[in-house]
Amino acid sequence: MKIGIDKIGFAMPKYFLDIADLAKARNINANKYVKGLLQLEMSIAPITQDIVTLGATAASEFLTEEDKKNIDMIIIGTESGIDQSKSASIFIHSLLGLSPFTRAIEVKEACYGGTAAIAIAKNHVVSNPEASVLVITSDLAKYGIGATGESTQGAGSCAMLIKKDPSILILNDDNVYQTRDIMDFWRPNYSDFPHVDGHFSTKQYLDCLETTWNEYSKKFNKSLDNFEAICFHLPFPKIGLKGLNTIVPKQENENLKDKLNENFHTSIIYNQKVGNIYTGSLYLNLLSLLENSKSLSSGDNILMYSYGSGAVCEIFSVTLVDGFEKRLRSDRMADFDARVKLSIEEYEKMFFEKIELDENGNSSFISDDDSLFSLEKIENHMRIYKKNNF
Ligand code: CAA
Repeated sequence: MKIGIDKIGFAMPKYFLDIADLAKARNINANKYVKGLLQLEMSIAPITQDIVTLGATAASEFLTEEDKKNIDMIIIGTESGIDQSKSASIFIHSLLGLSPFTRAIEVKEACYGGTAAIAIAKNHVVSNPEASVLVITSDLAKYGIGATGESTQGAGSCAMLIKKDPSILILNDDNVYQTRDIMDFWRPNYSDFPHVDGHFSTKQYLDCLETTWNEYSKKFNKSLDNFEAICFHLPFPKIGLKGLNTIVPKQENENLKDKLNENFHTSIIYNQKVGNIYTGSLYLNLLSLLENSKSLSSGDNILMYSYGSGAVCEIFSVTLVDGFEKRLRSDRMADFDARVKLSIEEYEKMFFEKIELDENGNSSFISDDDSLFSLEKIENHMRIYKKNNF
């Protein structure tokens, strides 16, 4: 049975920060971010946008009433959960009006959670061939004002519908994963921001890539010739380029190198504007490639590298199916152009605003948030969301 991604959608908040403005404010040469990290902009979320509102908006981009009837599982992969106990997917389930006979869960392993969610979804379809699973990757990546990771923040969500006979791509049965117990990036329950050993984390990312790729190519007898493109988890785009240079041998033929390089640059277009969205970064990278590449065609294989600090990583491949381009958007750049640019002061106030509760656990927000979904208020410690009917 062929199982894979049938539909894919993306959502981001309507605000962004120009990375050059951040560099200027921190007294850093802008080229460090623009050339050194290949980052251009970062999506910034107001207090009324979180993993739930962004996830529901991303799924709304493609869900039909028919899809809603067929979905019997919704899984969210996230690092920035809104509750220690209740799954964020239950809120999304409710906002989207999915069937009550649905399983709703949340998966956590840093930026790897979305890939784990896809694996669970695929296995679910293996044993329930008529089922569709809604997988949401959704995160707000915040390191804090002045932190070393401040230039690698972002906010957004990718949603995917996983089913048999998919319209976009097939998830091949060639997964190789690796776990190593390291402290490169972690966020204790009492911390708003992660603790991160930045240079150690990039070394681990690249070493996990190299060792997993070696194992993958040995196990499945595959070389880079088998792939048109490689998609990476992208905390910042430059790390993907380093990844590419790590696994493409120096003596590799120039045509292959050029093709992978060109597709890499196509795949980072959206990430360069959104920043890190942890669980969704790899899938935003894939979306950017699929929606912007002029050279991909059905039957092409794409190699995927997922990495979540802590650390778990995975390499697997996907194959494009006939007519895949019909399920994609060609006008997404207009969404980026429509965003509102923030000043540094506005960014610092907006992204790091804290919910203030009264003694009964209530809070309401003075907001002009006109997004499809938003957080309206907190009542007795319960988050209350609203849907705007346009
Ligand atoms: N012009 C051009 N390039 C410049 C420059 C200039 N004026 N000044 C510096 N650079 C280059 C540097 O040479 C460097 O490039 P290379 O690595 O290719 O040499 C790049 O800019 C960054 O410079 P630094 O390494 O000195 O930057 P830094 O000390 O501020 O750290 C970082 C960068 C480690 C990525 C930091 O932003 C960070 O800690 N980020 C968060 C952690 C992270 O993203 N880790 C990635 C792997 S972990 C993961 O993937 C999970 C996840 O999502 C968090």
